[in-house]
Amino acid sequence: MSISDEVQPHVDFLIGIRLITEVLHPVKSGKEATVYVCRAHPETGREYFALKVYKALEKRSFRNDSTYQEARLYRNNRVTRAYENKSEFGQNVQFGLWVGTEFEMMNNLFEAGVYVPEPVKQVGPTILMEFYGREGAAATLLQNAKLTEKQAREVWALIKANIEMMLGANVVHGDLSPYNILVDCQNESDPVRIIDFPQAVDVRFNPNARDLLERDVRNTLGFFNKLGVRENPAWLARDLWRRWQRAEL
Ligand SMILES: Nc1ncnc2c1ncn2[C@@H]1O[C@H](COP(=O)(O)OP(=O)(O)O)[C@@H](O)[C@H]1O
Ligand SMILES: [Mg+2]
Repeated sequence: MSISDEVQPHVDFLIGIRLITEVLHPVKSGKEATVYVCRAHPETGREYFALKVYKALEKRSFRNDSTYQEARLYRNNRVTRAYENKSEFGQNVQFGLWVGTEFEMMNNLFEAGVYVPEPVKQVGPTILMEFYGREGAAATLLQNAKLTEKQAREVWALIKANIEMMLGANVVHGDLSPYNILVDCQNESDPVRIIDFPQAVDVRFNPNARDLLERDVRNTLGFFNKLGVRENPAWLARDLWRRWQRAEL
């Protein structure tokens, strides 16, 4: 399939280093990125990989994400100014951060045991990762999943454990919702993946982490509430936060 001229060299690179043999088709194109299914190179032992390709900034609406990126940038004045002015340089700085940060986050979280797709390689504005699904079809977004009450309880328990593991690794997702969770209840041994990390924050350095944590809990718990799961999001967020502060996670 054809891919844009800017991205083709990165795809060629991934083919050259024998990670993939071809890009098959897009899974989904969103505001900020398009995710493609790729055929994995036989040497990788995988059948497919997912390739997330960020859109160039001029092709998408500029997102005011200063809350998220602030803490990371305060040391370097030129960078900070360019970034705040949203100059071309600033936008490129920001673009590099989105992709690099997401890959780094995914690596840390994967190492910490969080159920994220296994990250494989970052090249330019692209991230190659485990494809979570069956026979080239991506697993369902939690948002669209039809869960029984029992499944809902089980999946929520896993999500809760993952929020806890992320926090234990000093990370709050920052955009956790039924739109960034993939589920496959047929996959008995491994039914969940949490995805989409460009706005994830390091709890130790981001003053908004506590609020973002509570919002993540609310946004996911809201979905499970409708399926009979009863839990108080404020209490849960508070409990998690206290345990993080006491290094009990
Ligand atoms: N590792 C993956 N395996 C299978 N499908 C994926 C994977 N990562 C993302 N997707 C699919 O691509 C969509 C967009 O990915 P996401 O990372 O949420 O980007 P964005 O929301 O910025 O477009 C997801 O909703 C999901 O359907
Ligand atoms: Mg998403």
